[in-house]
Amino acid sequence: MNLKKEIQKRRTFAVISHPDAGKTTLTEKLLLFGGAIHVAGAVKSNKIKKSATSDWMEIEKQRGISVATSVMGFDYNKHKINILDTPGHQDFAEDTFRTLTAVDSVIVVVDIAKGVEVQTRKLMEVCRMRNTPVMIFVNKLDREGKNPFDVLDELEEELQIAVRPLSWPIDMGDRFKGVYNLYRNSLDLFKPSKQVVTESIKLDVESANLESHIGSALSSKLREEVELITEVYSEFDREDYLAGKLAPVFFGSALNNFGVKELLDCFVEIAPSPRKVQAEERVVDPYENTFTGFVFKIHANMDPNHRSRIAFVKICSGQFERNVNYKHVRFNRMMKFSSPTAFMAQKKEILEEAFAGDIIGLPDTGNFKIGDTLTSGEDLHFKGLPSFSPEMFKYIENADPMKSKQLQKGVEQLMDEGVAQLFTNQFNGRKIIGTVGQLQFEVIEYRLLHEYGAQCRWNPIQLFKACWIESEDKEQLADFKRRKYQYMAHDKQGRDVFLAESNYILMMAQQDFKNIKFHFASEY
Ligand code: G4P
Repeated sequence: MNLKKEIQKRRTFAVISHPDAGKTTLTEKLLLFGGAIHVAGAVKSNKIKKSATSDWMEIEKQRGISVATSVMGFDYNKHKINILDTPGHQDFAEDTFRTLTAVDSVIVVVDIAKGVEVQTRKLMEVCRMRNTPVMIFVNKLDREGKNPFDVLDELEEELQIAVRPLSWPIDMGDRFKGVYNLYRNSLDLFKPSKQVVTESIKLDVESANLESHIGSALSSKLREEVELITEVYSEFDREDYLAGKLAPVFFGSALNNFGVKELLDCFVEIAPSPRKVQAEERVVDPYENTFTGFVFKIHANMDPNHRSRIAFVKICSGQFERNVNYKHVRFNRMMKFSSPTAFMAQKKEILEEAFAGDIIGLPDTGNFKIGDTLTSGEDLHFKGLPSFSPEMFKYIENADPMKSKQLQKGVEQLMDEGVAQLFTNQFNGRKIIGTVGQLQFEVIEYRLLHEYGAQCRWNPIQLFKACWIESEDKEQLADFKRRKYQYMAHDKQGRDVFLAESNYILMMAQQDFKNIKFHFASEY
């Protein structure tokens, strides 16, 4: 077996979008092409519906299903594809951010009618932080939408990345005829169908045959537009794409299975195989012989009879083998795993070996935290995963004096899983939980009760943002901390965090303490 070959054929990525743009639909179609599923609709149930009210049973059911579908592996055209699923509900955005640390590239789905939306912008910020290569799929061309040129401008402006169309739509909505594939110089004609793979016609845009397929008016329009594209946008440069500076753009309709195969074929060709990963100590090359990996997600089993959890590990280098001793760096202890799982499409199975780029699941009884590193023996720490300032804050108090230990343990473990962020006020020791959305408070309360037998009470606190602060000017830093002592907290790693009550107070602080840097993410 050739390690290099195995690693080279891997493509590990996530599909991301603002809710409703078509992430689930596109993912499902990709699986269909990979032969990983055989009917449309199989992944649908994975989605936590975006209803305003939270439905507990629904969420629990979804969580159960989503373990199996959180990583979907399949083989396609001699490549091993690993798609990492991300939660649809925006209250779980932190989960998505963390998942992005385990992928080598992403496909962003944008709705042609809506253009760039809030969540797309946020996710893109994370991609930019890590120079993740991005490919864009503009979806729902079977409906009326914005002018494709305007969408390209919007993508460039809003996502702060250069774009280069690799396919171009021929009209849209009821009049949608298909796309011209600029990457392969072929015409792909649209036939509305949810299941069938469309045929493409090898045809240059200059060919006289074009008229017979799409008529003369659309032919001349297409020729003009293609000319404009070649004038305005420079040739597609794969190196720029791999460096995260340029995003190729495809158009299509995921629901109708149109443009998806073109996207996938181009994706396996140009998307990166596992990339080098920066650890604190050094850069880790995927082709190194020794195994390294890190935990990017922990999934708890909600069933109280099975308190086990699954730690998701991204393999960064070498090869992982079942029943071989690996070092849990934070514990400085060797551990071996007898039942690591692979995620092939919708089933989990015990694996014997896995390679850089793969995601494996390790059954865990509380040994792992998000960010933990496993190696063949080296003391290595993969760089911290970014935590963004939460949007909502509440004091968490113990509501059952007999169960304070359980509450403490529960809160600790849930934070290790990354369910929310914990801040401890440096002045009075009160604990504050920060989340992205209300739903997370409900998840915490429910899980503390059902998994740990602990009861919590929430008390309001008026906060705007949590800022990680640092400064070379030790005197000014000390002065700031002294003056703001009531609003200084420690995060879980013991770093200094300033809890700003309002935007105004934060602006004043930034103005008065010019030598202090205020960060809105913990990775800086
Ligand atoms: P998400 O995961 O990004 O949240 O989006 P999802 O795939 O669930 O798609 C959101 C809605 O958009 C779905 O409709 C889906 O059928 C529709 N959709 C996806 N791709 C296309 C497309 O190419 N064309 C059109 N016209 N619609 C598309 P829904 O009504 O919310 O769900 P459902 O009842 O169809 O399941």
